[in-house]
Amino acid sequence: MERRMFGQLSVPAIGLGCMSMTPIYAQPDEGEAIATVQHALDHGVELLDTSDAYAAGANESLIGKAVQGRRDKAIIATKFGNLRTPEGKQAVCGDPDYVRQACEASLKRLGVEEIDLYLAHRIDPDVPIEDTVGAMADLVQAGKVRHLGLCEAAPETLRRAHATHPIAALQTEYSLWSRDAEADVLPLCAELGVGYMAYAPLGRGFLTGTIRDTDALAESDRRRAHPRFHPENLSRNLALVEQLDALAQEAGCTPAQLSLAWVLGQGGHIVPIPGTSRRKWLRENIAAAQLQVAPDILGRLSEAFRPGIAAGLRYPEGQMKHLRV
Ligand SMILES: NC(=O)c1ccc[n+]([C@@H]2O[C@H](COP(=O)([O-])OP(=O)(O)OC[C@H]3O[C@@H](n4cnc5c(N)ncnc54)[C@H](OP(=O)(O)O)[C@@H]3O)[C@@H](O)[C@H]2O)c1
Repeated sequence: MERRMFGQLSVPAIGLGCMSMTPIYAQPDEGEAIATVQHALDHGVELLDTSDAYAAGANESLIGKAVQGRRDKAIIATKFGNLRTPEGKQAVCGDPDYVRQACEASLKRLGVEEIDLYLAHRIDPDVPIEDTVGAMADLVQAGKVRHLGLCEAAPETLRRAHATHPIAALQTEYSLWSRDAEADVLPLCAELGVGYMAYAPLGRGFLTGTIRDTDALAESDRRRAHPRFHPENLSRNLALVEQLDALAQEAGCTPAQLSLAWVLGQGGHIVPIPGTSRRKWLRENIAAAQLQVAPDILGRLSEAFRPGIAAGLRYPEGQMKHLRV
C-alpha cells in the first residue's frame, strides 16, 4: 500500500472508517466488524478512524477489542467534542478541561496508552481555537497523544490552530458529490503540509451504486435524515450514479473503486477513509489504491459531478452550522 504523510505521521493511502461498525447505518455484525479491523491491519491499512461520539463510546470499545495483541500495527485516530444534548440536538465542546477528560475516557475505552491522532470532532465557536489546541498540545506533552487533528474547520481556524501546535491532519467530508473543500481547504492543507482525511468518500454508501431507494434503508438508518437521501433528492442524485456506473464499467472497476481512485487522484496529501464493517467491501476498497484509471475517465467523472450538482444539503439543516467553523 502506498504511503502518504499527515505532517510527520506516515499513513497508508487508504484508511478504514469504523463508524458503521456500531449501529448508525445498516445493522452491523460485531464479529465481522472485528474481523474487518484485523484484516485491515494484516493488509497494510493501519489507519483506523473512530470517535467517542460513535455509539456513545461503544465504537471505541470495539476498536480496542479488535486491536488487542496488534496494537503496534494500528494507527488509531479518535475524536472528542461532538455531543448530543438530552433532547438529542448536536452540541460542541472544545473547553480545555473537557478535552482532558474526554481523552482519558477514550484511552480507557480503547485500552491503549496513547492515541496516535487526536482530533477535535467539531470546532467550538465559543472557545478560542488556541485554547482547545493548547489543551490538545498538553496531551502530546504528557505522552497521551502523538499527533493532532481537526474536523470541519474553516481555513482561518486551521491556520490559527497550526500556529499553536502543528496540525497533522484535517478531517472533512470529500467525495465526488461533496467538493466544497476544493475551493480553499484542500489547497490550504497542501500549503501548510497538513494531511487531508477525506471522510465519507463513498458518499455514505451512495457512490457505490448499491443504494437506489430510500425505502430500502432501515427505519433507524441515520441516512434517512440526510437531505441527499430524501426520496425527491435521491431520485435526482441517481442520475449521477448512472454516469458513475457507466464510467466504472469503462474503467473495468466497481463504482466504489472509481469513487476512491478519483479522491486519491485529487492530491498527494489526501487519504480517503472509506467506512465499512465487512471484509468483502474492505478488500474491494483497498484494491482501489492500485488502480490506474485513464485521465480522460477521471476528467469526465469530475465534469459529471461538478461542484454543487448533487441535490440536497450534505447534512440535515440543523447540523450545517457546525461545519466550516
Ligand atoms: N469527522 C466527521 O464528522 C465524520 C463524519 C462522518 C464519517 N466520518 C468518518 O469517515 C468514515 C467514512 O464515512 P462513512 O462511513 O460515513 O461513509 P462512506 O465511507 O462514504 O460510506 C460508508 C458506507 O458505504 C458502505 N460501503 C463501503 N464500501 C463499500 C463497497 N465497496 N460497496 C458497497 N458499499 C460499501 C458501508 O457499508 P457497511 O458499513 O455495511 O460495510 C457504509 O454503509 C466513517 O466511518 C467515520 O470514521 C467522520
